[in-house]
Amino acid sequence: MHIAAEGENTFGVDVRQNFQKIINTIRSLSPDLVVLSGDICFDVGEEPVYHWVRSHLDFLKIPYTAIGGNHDDPVMLAKAFHIDHQLQGKELYYKRQLNGQTVLFLETSYGVVSENQLTWLKNELAHLDSDTVIFMHHPPVICGVPFMDNNHALRNMDKVQEVLFNFPHHLTIFCGHYHVEKTICLHNLTVHITPSTYFQIDWHLEGFKIDHYRIGCREINLRKDGAVESTVIYQEGNLIASGS
Ligand SMILES: [Fe+2]
Repeated sequence: MHIAAEGENTFGVDVRQNFQKIINTIRSLSPDLVVLSGDICFDVGEEPVYHWVRSHLDFLKIPYTAIGGNHDDPVMLAKAFHIDHQLQGKELYYKRQLNGQTVLFLETSYGVVSENQLTWLKNELAHLDSDTVIFMHHPPVICGVPFMDNNHALRNMDKVQEVLFNFPHHLTIFCGHYHVEKTICLHNLTVHITPSTYFQIDWHLEGFKIDHYRIGCREINLRKDGAVESTVIYQEGNLIASGS
């Protein structure tokens, strides 16, 4: 989402209006739960931004939850979203029951999955005996997006993969962070990256280049038969008129 403080320069993109557009899409979908998959704030965690975002979500009257990204402060985020009881020290990771399935929400704000969290994850997975869904901001795999893979990938990916690959069932993992729409299948993992509500980047290049300004969210359906359906919904993004 990358919501900046009011009046802050966001390089020509109206991030607040983009977020409100997505909120309207969510209203029309009327889901059971909204998941904000991190990088709520533009650069660093800012309390007024979390409160602004939360006020829009409260207005929807649809349950919501959040995880942190590398541009968030997980403690500030958890407090603003009233999920601070889920904090483990300075990390926000937890599980929830959705449609009778256990869904795991991981913490990668610090660019890694910490040792403590890996122990928790191993233990949680050991108690699950069917395919499982995970939300985490950073993808736990190399995604074929050279700019992000080379500069901003999860730092302890090998250790995380060791835990995930050892799970004897399938894992569907929903991520953000990369500003692209992509799906990567590796061993027992299907990793879906959802586009940003800021801008999308060109996934062919080593260097940074904006690909387009359409914004997206992902509709996910956890079906009773265990299947996981998901579709990205795009809209036009809003640029701030030059000179204004
Ligand atoms: Fe990120």
